[in-house]
Amino acid sequence: MQRVFSGIQPSGIPQLGNYLGAIRNWVALQADHECLFCVVDLHAITVWQDPAQLARQTRELAASIIACGIDPRKHILFHQSGVPAHARLAWIFNCVARIGWLNRMTQFKDKAGKDREAASAGLYVYPSLMAADVLAYHATRVPVGDDQKQHLEFANDIAQKFNHDYGVDFFPPIQPLIQGPAARVMSLRDGARKMSKSDPSDQSRINLADDADTIALKIRRAKTDPQPLPDEPAGLEGRPEARNLVGIYAAMADTDAAGVLREHGGRGFGAFKEALAALLISHLAPIAAETRRLLADPGAVDAILGEGAARAAEIADPIVREAERLVGFLQIPSAAAPSSHVRS
Ligand code: AMP
Ligand code: TRP
Repeated sequence: MQRVFSGIQPSGIPQLGNYLGAIRNWVALQADHECLFCVVDLHAITVWQDPAQLARQTRELAASIIACGIDPRKHILFHQSGVPAHARLAWIFNCVARIGWLNRMTQFKDKAGKDREAASAGLYVYPSLMAADVLAYHATRVPVGDDQKQHLEFANDIAQKFNHDYGVDFFPPIQPLIQGPAARVMSLRDGARKMSKSDPSDQSRINLADDADTIALKIRRAKTDPQPLPDEPAGLEGRPEARNLVGIYAAMADTDAAGVLREHGGRGFGAFKEALAALLISHLAPIAAETRRLLADPGAVDAILGEGAARAAEIADPIVREAERLVGFLQIPSAAAPSSHVRS
């Protein structure tokens, strides 16, 4: 059975792009894969996070992932900081990766913005940690949204260079799984920007915790153009906002753009937006309710993460220990401190 690994940052409330680009595909993969899903708190702090908020968001995201249909008993759901193997392997990978490779990463350029000198060093080496996340488990399939494609190519480059430099065939190639008509969900306010939990405008996204009225209002206010919907996907060319709403509809209704336009082509956006809002509400309202129910017992959510971290470490520790041996680190079991060193 192939091993699946994927991650999501606890940097805010999960939004529709996380759901359609990633989490929904994770749910489907559970049937015939061994899966690990990780709330990547180490990645989150590559940009500033308020400590109390980070802790709360980590727990809330875990609850939301379970509410979407991830089964933490059959599979493994955990927080990244709970498994030290990630950071250990990431350090080795920082020494395998080349600065030239990191300089080509578009996500760093986007997130660092104009003042690159002021970005954290962690944001720069973010892709090495992501490669370590996957490769610490020898996972081979990684379901993500379209924006993570370059990072997974980088992970494959690291695996190949490690194998080459140390003369081994240790890290397997990774296959990115980027699927569906909503692998790149765009902002509701600007069809040229991706929907993101860190966008300052809440109107730009649907949050998985939004109530029915909020969803309906955000969709009604979503930016569109004055033309009616075209009859065929070719007519969406040059209409990014229309294309985005059709893509979201297609993903939620398990069809494609052609299927949506067969039904809604020729109509104005008023009626289409109403149908889209109803579709979103029917899918997302039960997820929000289940998330709230789970969060009524925060200790239970924490226990799931703690147990997941222990099970994840059981897989990752031997793999990372072997990587360390290959690099040439001494394999000395740590002994208990001699009693003469222990102060009373
Ligand atoms: P992040 O929120 O950046 O941690 O992303 C977690 C997962 O959601 C990754 O697989 C992303 O590729 C995916 N994702 C995030 N935003 C979008 C989006 N707007 N459209 C599609 N997938 C997305
Ligand atoms: N970088 C990913 C994102 O922001 C999250 C992530 C971290 C991830 N580690 C991962 C995704 C490993 C897949 C595999 O979207």
